[in-house]
Amino acid sequence: MKADIIVGLQHGDCGKGKVTHHLCKEGDYTHVIRYNGGCNAGHTIFHEGEKFVTHHIPAGVFFGIKSIIGPGCVIDAEQFYREVIDLSLKLGPQVTDLIKVAKNAHVITEEHLEEDGKDTEIGTTKKGNGPAYRDKYARVGVRAEKVKSLEPFLVDIYDELHGPPSIPPNKLSLDSMLHNECFEPVVLFEGAQGFGLDIDWGEYPYVTSSHCTVAGALLNGVPPQAVRNVWGIAKIYETYVGKKEFQPEDPIFDVLQSIGQEYGATTGRPRQCNWLDWDSLEKAIKINGVNNLVFNKVDILKQINTWNVQSQGEILSFNTEDEMKKWILGKLSKVSTINVYFSSSPNHL
Ligand code: IMP
Ligand code: MG
Repeated sequence: MKADIIVGLQHGDCGKGKVTHHLCKEGDYTHVIRYNGGCNAGHTIFHEGEKFVTHHIPAGVFFGIKSIIGPGCVIDAEQFYREVIDLSLKLGPQVTDLIKVAKNAHVITEEHLEEDGKDTEIGTTKKGNGPAYRDKYARVGVRAEKVKSLEPFLVDIYDELHGPPSIPPNKLSLDSMLHNECFEPVVLFEGAQGFGLDIDWGEYPYVTSSHCTVAGALLNGVPPQAVRNVWGIAKIYETYVGKKEFQPEDPIFDVLQSIGQEYGATTGRPRQCNWLDWDSLEKAIKINGVNNLVFNKVDILKQINTWNVQSQGEILSFNTEDEMKKWILGKLSKVSTINVYFSSSPNHL
């Protein structure tokens, strides 16, 4: 078995959906598995010129790859059906066969939604995430296998990944059937949120309730030896949505917010902005063992043509894009061997 992991290095909204889409298109995956979070996430994906926002369902569906909501996730069944219907209307009814839910994933109930809806302290997405995870750990939660209407979608991740080899739907052909070909699982793990919102590593209590690091992916049934690549995703600047103070007093950040279209994909709330936080990023790279690093939205900084980084409590200002990139690459050369991508397009790396 082999696995690649996509992990957010900041506070979510860093373009993981785009990278998942890219890797699904290029890669040899048999499964895409969402490993944490619920429908608090909003992954924006451009597929064949059309914009899609998914909250639960991993991006493998766009390429005929089996797409599973893993046991580390919490699932709102109604939101899930809405997405299944929307995707099958837009991509064709065959996608419903690709979409699966781990039977031991936990369910977000009406009560969870109601409780989270009253949050005033953290600035949650009000999607029931925190209460659902709390009940899971308090051992009073409801697993997906207990919900009748989810039955057609349920899988046992152990059977799926460690059972007898089978031909995955995206590898199915007359040839593969005639030759009785076997395919070992090659899994792409799609993360939600990011390091700065991680329950353990984020600024508590301004965090989400799940494990957003690579460790979170490994909770979903794949042994650590299977991991090939860790794709760390960041933006070339920071954003955060929630109750803590994040954006400094400077009108340039309002401009950044507006040019970068920094409004939540799930809630529509404006995202607070700041310059790239180098120290936090370096920590996230080290802790997650990132070996492929993507900086998204370089095109947005180009438009305001201000090249700033925060490090050690100071703002470092660079004259040009190239100067900033050179500084970043110099810093990274001391961290580890890493492929770095600076992306200037919402559609590709
Ligand atoms: P919760 O995950 O809804 O409980 O929200 C906890 C914190 O995480 C809040 O600050 C949310 O705005 C933030 N958050 C949760 N999911 C996302 C996401 O997908 N993108 C950005 N922020 C998120
Ligand atoms: Mg998002």
